Amino acid sequence: MADNIRVLNRYPEQTTRGSLLQGNRYTSREFASLEWENMWTRVWLILGREAEIPNPGDWQMEPVGPEEILMVRQTDGTVKAFYNVCQHRGNPLVEGNSGSVKRFVCKYHSWAYMPDGELNFAPDREDFPEGNPCGKVRLAEVACETFAGFVWVNMDPNCQSLRSFLGPIWDEWQARHIDTWRRTMARSAWLPCNWKVVLDNFNESYHVPTVHQGATTETNRQEIRGHINTYFKETQFDLSNEGHNRMVMQGGFGVGSTDKEGNVLEPLKSELRFWNLDPDDFRNNPAATREALQSAKRKLGVERGFSHYPNIPDEQFTDAFHYTLLPNFAVTVWSDSFHFLRARPDRDNPERCLFDNWWYSSPASIEAGFDRRLEHTDVQENGEAVVEMIDPTTRSIGPGIDDDVRVFVTQQRGFRSRGFKGVYLSKQEERIRRYHELIDDYIEGRR
Ligand code: FES
Ligand SMILES: [Fe+2]
Repeated sequence: MADNIRVLNRYPEQTTRGSLLQGNRYTSREFASLEWENMWTRVWLILGREAEIPNPGDWQMEPVGPEEILMVRQTDGTVKAFYNVCQHRGNPLVEGNSGSVKRFVCKYHSWAYMPDGELNFAPDREDFPEGNPCGKVRLAEVACETFAGFVWVNMDPNCQSLRSFLGPIWDEWQARHIDTWRRTMARSAWLPCNWKVVLDNFNESYHVPTVHQGATTETNRQEIRGHINTYFKETQFDLSNEGHNRMVMQGGFGVGSTDKEGNVLEPLKSELRFWNLDPDDFRNNPAATREALQSAKRKLGVERGFSHYPNIPDEQFTDAFHYTLLPNFAVTVWSDSFHFLRARPDRDNPERCLFDNWWYSSPASIEAGFDRRLEHTDVQENGEAVVEMIDPTTRSIGPGIDDDVRVFVTQQRGFRSRGFKGVYLSKQEERIRRYHELIDDYIEGRR
């Protein structure tokens, strides 16, 4: 682990080209297929969770665009990933999202594969002019690594290592022991928008006052701090060489953290008490809780089971570390939980994507009652919250995120208009431009 992990560093400066970003990037089938061939099939994708497949033979299958990827726990404890397709005549090998097998048996002609991908049985094996396929034919493998408790895959056989793909994020996340954190809430939905509509949204906090805080044209945006402060002059923006972004927003503790008399409200009130701080000391001064919480957590964290605290910077105790990982993963990492936001393309419709809104929390914070989401969700045998597929027109996908989803749907409509000539971005939205330019780099062969 890097020695300086406790210091909030900066990523190197990046330059962007100022490319024109027009609506057809979100609507055209031709653009979607260029993206698939040149980008999606050549990058590392966060796809599975190790806790879902604890024992040899356990498998998890997840779709990405036109592909389905099967991830399987091996007898030596590693994970292998395969395309979900039988090498006899192309039938998908498994249906459903997860299971456990001794062998994968294809439902068409009963070819049976071992968890390591080797064909172990074929009916009438002596009848093949090219020779007995058993021990010879294998499932088509996809590069696979595990990190932070997740299973990552890359369809490019000549890909770089996951560690070099992730760059600075590797050390930052490893320090947080994220592999031990548990999923406490998981809602997913198919949305009528391009996957980049989702990622663009999580690549900026410029929309937060309008979409989430009821700001109007009259609002002073410096004074609208909610539980997190999204004011751009007080936010740290970073773009890594590898193409991933980070935005550090201070725990703002302003509007919404106190009642009219200035008393600190929940959940901040309980959090202060947990860390031996008196909420009354912060009456009319909730912003002072930021530093007070940082020192209290630094002092008391380890003895209360928060084992990763020695490895993280003070800012992480209160602030939102929001990352977007190329291509399709956005995550807000707090000291004890993270908000997992992912969008995957549909198999053939560029105006549709599969969106995940999930939460994970550290074991100590679940124990301390900071995250009570598990009390309101179905839990699997392995302790992880069940993933609920919901229809967002009739059910909430999650507090706050419903507001974003409403805009995803309307913005996609706008992108179809001949009247939209291309985006006009603020500096604080530069992460959007960089993201799109990196996609172009893949498409045009620069990456
Ligand atoms: S297609 Fe799988 S056994 Fe024939
Ligand atoms: Fe939002």
